[in-house]
Amino acid sequence: MALDNSRNANLLTNTAIQTIVAANFSQISAENNMKMSYYNETTFANAEAEQMISWANQNNIGVHGHALVWHPDYQLPSWARTPDANFRARFEAHVRGVARKHRGQLESWDVVNEALSDGGEPYRDSVFYRQYNGIDYIANAFRWAREEDPDVDLYYNDYNTEANGAKTQALVTLISELLSSGVPIDGVGFQMHVLPDWPSITDIRASWRAIMDLDPNLKIKLTELDVRTNNAYSDPPRVEQSCDSSCLQQQKQRYKSIIAAYLTDVPAARRGGITVWGVADNHSWYSDYEENGLQMVDWPLLWNSDLQTKPAYDGVWEALQGL
Ligand code: XIL
Repeated sequence: MALDNSRNANLLTNTAIQTIVAANFSQISAENNMKMSYYNETTFANAEAEQMISWANQNNIGVHGHALVWHPDYQLPSWARTPDANFRARFEAHVRGVARKHRGQLESWDVVNEALSDGGEPYRDSVFYRQYNGIDYIANAFRWAREEDPDVDLYYNDYNTEANGAKTQALVTLISELLSSGVPIDGVGFQMHVLPDWPSITDIRASWRAIMDLDPNLKIKLTELDVRTNNAYSDPPRVEQSCDSSCLQQQKQRYKSIIAAYLTDVPAARRGGITVWGVADNHSWYSDYEENGLQMVDWPLLWNSDLQTKPAYDGVWEALQGL
C-alpha cells in the first residue's frame, strides 16, 4: 500500500494507520516523500523516507521506491525546474545518489515514471526528454540504478497503459527497445488508477500479456491501484455525492476481478505485487479532485474514513483466497 505524508495518513505519526498497515500489508510505497524534490540536492538526505524505511524494517515490511525519475514541476528539485548547462550531471548525480543512499534497503524501484505521453506522440515532452534530446535518459537511469544497487528490482511505471490502446503499444515498444539494448529492467508497473467500467478487464489482461510476452523474466506489478466511483468521461458523466451499498458492491466486484485476473494471468515468480494507493478514503488523492473540468469527491480505497473495512476489502480478500 502507499502512504502519504499529508491528509493525516502519515505513517510516522498516525498509530491507527500503522496498525492497519502492519496487519494487512507486506510492502509499502511512499505516496510522495521519495520523489525527487524530497531529497537534499547534494547529500541526498531525506529524513521522512529514512524514518519510513526503518519503520518498515522494524515491522518486517518491504519497501518499493517511488520514484527515481518523475517529471511534475512541483515535485522536482530546483536544478530540474530551471535547468542549466549542468542538468545532465545533476540528473546522473540524483539517480546515482538516491539509489546509492537506499542500496540494500528496498525490494524495488520505479526507476522512471510516466515517460509516455497521453496524446499522439509516444514520449512525454518532460524536462528530461528535452535536456537529453530524446529518451536516452531512460536507459541511463536504469543503468545507473543497477550500478548503485545491484539487487533491487528495477521497474518502468506508467498510467493508462492498461487500456490496450495506443499508449499500451507505446509501452510495449519502449520496453522491447530497452530489453534489446540490454538495459537492466526487471519489470513493468501498471499504476491501475481505474474507473468503475474502464478499462475493461479484457483490455487490462491483454496489456499485461503484451508485456509478459516480451521476456519470460519480466515482472508485472500493480503499483497504484484504486477504484473510483465517478466517471468524469462517461456520457453523461457519473458524479456521485455518496457511495451507497450498490455502489460499494460494484466497487468490490471491480477490485475482486482485477486481483483474480492478476493471480490467474501472472505466474507467481513474475508477480511484483499489488499496491493500493492509500489506506482510507479520506486519505486518497481522489478524496477531493478535479477531472475533465468536474470537481468531485470519491471513495476509491479499501477502508472508509472511519477506518472500517469496506466491501472492497472483502473483494480483495476473496480474490486472494481464490473465492
Ligand atoms: C500523487 C499523490 O497521490 C498525491 O498526493 C500528490 O499530490 C501527487 O502525486 N501517478 C504517480 C503518483 O505515479 O506518484 C501520483 O501520486 C499519482 C499518479
